[in-house]
Parts: sequence; C-alpha cells; structure tokens
Amino acid sequence: MSTTSEALKPSPAYGEPRKAGATARRDRWWVQPFLVVAALTTFGIYTIVRVILSTKYPGVYTDGAHLQSPMFSPDLAGIFGFHTKLPWSFLVLWAPLGMRTTCYYYRKSIYRSYFLAPPACAVAGAARRKYSGETKMLLFMNLHRFFFYAAAIVVGFLAFDFVRSLFYATAGGGTSFGVSIGSLIMLINVVCLSGYTFGCNSFRHLIGGNLDCFDCSASTRTRHTLWQRVTTLNVRHQEWAWLSMFTVWGTDLYLWLAGSGVFTDPHHIF
Ligand code: FES
Repeated sequence: MSTTSEALKPSPAYGEPRKAGATARRDRWWVQPFLVVAALTTFGIYTIVRVILSTKYPGVYTDGAHLQSPMFSPDLAGIFGFHTKLPWSFLVLWAPLGMRTTCYYYRKSIYRSYFLAPPACAVAGAARRKYSGETKMLLFMNLHRFFFYAAAIVVGFLAFDFVRSLFYATAGGGTSFGVSIGSLIMLINVVCLSGYTFGCNSFRHLIGGNLDCFDCSASTRTRHTLWQRVTTLNVRHQEWAWLSMFTVWGTDLYLWLAGSGVFTDPHHIF
C-alpha cells in the first residue's frame, strides 16, 4: 500500500531523461520481466547442455519401443540413416529455436526483459542514443514465417514420434500396441506445441490473409473457418508459448532420465 507522500510524488515531465526502471507504478511490475529472464535463460542453458550431450540419451528404448526426445526430432539416424559425429540436434533445433526467437510474443518479452526497452508499461527503459526499430541485425526477425514452415514440419515429426512410441517389438519379430507414461507425455507435448505453432501470426496470415472476401466461394469460406480456428489459438498465443516450452523441457527431461536408467518408464503392452 502506498503512502500519501508516495502517491503524490510527481511524475517526471514528458521527455525528461530517467533512470532505467524509474516509474510512478507501485505494483510489482518487475516480477514478470524477472521471471521471463529466469525461465528463458535456464531453458537456454539446459538446451545447450543437452545439445553438447546429444550423442547420448536422445530417447528411450523399452521392449522395442522407441521414444524420441522432442529436442532430437526428427530422428535423423533412425528414419533417414543419417549419421554424424557432430552434436546432431543442431541440425534440427534451429527450426523451433528460430521460430521462438523471432516469434512476435517472444520478441516483446525479450526486448522488455533482456534489453529493458522498456521493461514494462510506464516504466523507463535503458538509455539509448536513438530508436532504430527492427533494422540491421534485427532484420533477421523478418525470417519468422520461414522458421514457422520448418517448425511446423518438426511438429509433424513429433506426432510421428508419438505414434511410433506406441509400437513394441514382440518375441516373434512382430509388433504389439502399448502405451507408457513417456508416450502420454509425448502426446501432451505434441498438443501443446501444435497449440503454439498453429496459433502463429504468420500461419494466421497464411490462412486468412490476402483475401478481399471471406464469403465469395467454398474455398474462401473454408479459409474463413480455418482462420477462426487459428484465431482462437492466436488469442492465447502467449500462454501456448510458455506451456509448450515447458512441455518440451519436461518431455526431454523425463526421457533423458528414463533413457539414462534413473528410472524405468512404466508401460503396458496390450
Ligand atoms: Fe509466435 Fe509466430 S510463433 S508469432
């Protein structure tokens, strides 16, 4: 609760230089930027560690079932026979990471939380000589739609990985259907990643953009219906962004621990 003297403290005049973080706000505006930095930095460090260790434990192999971690999908070696001594997740991680870095929501979070530009509404940002917008190096952000295309393909492979995780080898050389905690976690991850990926602004434009009339033909009506579905996801894009980041993280951690023998992935073969 603010005191009377705090409440009456005058705001600096418009245009007057202020220290970063200066504000008349009395709420905990700094909590959100702090959590964003903590979560993204921890996720970044975790991902780097996993990439370096990527020749080990990309997933779980139980009774012939293969549960691939989302950080190493698609399974280049298992599906395409592509082998390399390099940390091979580099070959796939650029797509989802590029999509997140250039995502409209993450851009806002990164600019606010890391660059204090500004850290929150009505809070002074870090001093800058001039505002140059997304120019020079930041033109890279315009590649978002291309990262989206690549990341959408990766989501397709994750769905494939989930289906593949349901098949166990039998003693006679055939396959049996089964389900494990790991495969259910993989399914949740695919759902959350789809919610994030297909609520993308670029996808929304791809589906419903460049149209003068939504009701002029069967095709435009179909696009309008799809656009409404994408819009439903898009209005919660921020929530999907965080949720899917944590499901990728959680799925990978679970499969890493199960694959390295810390515990056995409980499963049932029908
Ligand atoms: Fe966020 Fe495209 S993924 S805007």
